[in-house]
Amino acid sequence: MSVWMGVFVLVGLVHTLVPEPRVLLIHIFTLGVLTNSIVVWSQNLTERFLQQKLPDSARPAQLLRSRVLNAGVVAVLLGHLFSGADWHWIILCFGAALVVGAVGWHAVGVAKQIASADPAKRFRPVVWGYVASGACLVLGGCFGAALALDLRGGWQQRVLLAHLLANIGGFVGFAAMASLVVLLPAMWRMKAMLTHPRAVFGVMGAGLFAAIAGALSNSGLLLGIGVLVYAAAWAWALQTWFAGVLSTSWRERVTYPSLSALLAIAWLVASLVAFGTSTLLIDGYLDALTPPTLPLLAGFAAQLLIGTMSYLMPTTIGGGPAATRAGLAELNRAGVVRVVVFNAALLGWLFAPSSIARIVCSIVVCACLVAFIPLMVRGVRAQRAVIMANAAARKQGS
Ligand code: HEM
Repeated sequence: MSVWMGVFVLVGLVHTLVPEPRVLLIHIFTLGVLTNSIVVWSQNLTERFLQQKLPDSARPAQLLRSRVLNAGVVAVLLGHLFSGADWHWIILCFGAALVVGAVGWHAVGVAKQIASADPAKRFRPVVWGYVASGACLVLGGCFGAALALDLRGGWQQRVLLAHLLANIGGFVGFAAMASLVVLLPAMWRMKAMLTHPRAVFGVMGAGLFAAIAGALSNSGLLLGIGVLVYAAAWAWALQTWFAGVLSTSWRERVTYPSLSALLAIAWLVASLVAFGTSTLLIDGYLDALTPPTLPLLAGFAAQLLIGTMSYLMPTTIGGGPAATRAGLAELNRAGVVRVVVFNAALLGWLFAPSSIARIVCSIVVCACLVAFIPLMVRGVRAQRAVIMANAAARKQGS
C-alpha cells in the first residue's frame, strides 16, 4: 500500500507529462492503494471477527492472490496510460480479468471461512459484508472492461455510472460498513453498536441493485431512488453512531481515526443525497449527470482508509497497551488539525471559484493524506521501541 501511495505521489507530481492523468491517478488510488488495502485488511478482520486464524499453510495462496491482483492493477494502469493506442483495450481487459479473478478468489475464501466458523460467533453476519464487497468488484471490474471498448449510443455513460456504483458503493461501501460495525465503536470507545447489520446490508444491496439497474436502463427515476435508498442505509448507521458518540464524554475521545471515520460517512451520505436528488430532477437524460467522483473518492474512501489504517496498524502490531498507545499517539499527531484542514481544503477544491485556489486546495488535501506515511514509520518505530524496552526489562527481571 505504501508503495502504491508513493507511485500516486510521483505520478501526481509529473501529471502534466502523462496522458489522461485524471483516470490514471484515480485508478492508482482505487486499484493500487484501496483494493490492495481492502483485500489485506478484510482477510485480517475476518480472522479477528470470526476468532479463527488461518493456518500458515494458507499464506502461500494469499501471496499468489496478491501477486495476481497487482499484476492486474499494473496491466489496467498500462491500459489507461496507452489509451491513445488502438490496442489499449486488450491490456485493460486482461488486467481487469486478473483483478476480478484475484478479488473473486478472495471473496470465495472469506465465504468458506464463514461457513466453517462457529455459528454462535457474534460478528459472523458482519463478515458477509466482505463477501458482498468482493462480489461487487467482480461486477464493477466487468463494467470497467466494457468501458475500455468505448461503447456507443449513450452506453459509455450508463456503464460508467454502473462501474462507479458497483465499485465505490458496492466494493468499497460493503467493506467499509462491515469494518465500521465493529471498528467505529472501538475507535470511540463506546458501547453503541449497529443493532441490525444484516438489515443495513440488505437495504444497501437493494438500493445498489436498483441504482445499477436504473443506470443501465437509462431510468433516472430508478437510479435516483436506488441511490437515495442506499444513502438511507448509511444515514441510519451514521445517526446510530453519532447518537452513541454524543452520549459519551466525546471530547476526550476525539482522535484522528475516530473523527475521520465519522466525517467520511458524512461525505458519503451528503454526496449521494445530492447526486440522487439531482438524478430524480433530470429523469431520462443521464448524459447530463456528473457523478460525485471527488467527494466519494477523497471525502469518503481516502479519508476513511487513512483514518482506519491509523487505528488498525498500531492495534494489529500490538505488544501490550503501552506499546499500542505509543503507536497510536504518533499516528494521532496534530490529528484534529489534520482532519479540519483536510475537510476544509476538500470543500475549497470542490467549490472555490478561482482555479488557483482549487489547485492549492487539492495540494493541501493530498498533503494531509500523505502525512500518513512518515507518521506510520514513526509510529512503528515508537511501538517497537516500547516492545523492545519491555522485553529487555523482562529479561533483566528473570
Ligand atoms: C477492475 C478493474 C478496473 C478497470 C478495468 C477499470 C476501468 C475503467 C475505465 C475504462 C474507465 C473509463 C475511463 C474513461 O472514461 O476514460 C473507468 C473510470 C472510472 N473508474 Fe475504473 N476500472 C477498474 C476498477 C475501478 C475501481 C476498483 C474503482 C473504485 C473503487 C474505479 C473507479 C473509477 C472511477 C471513479 C472512474 C471515473 C473517472 C472519471 O470520473 O472520469 N475503477 N474505469
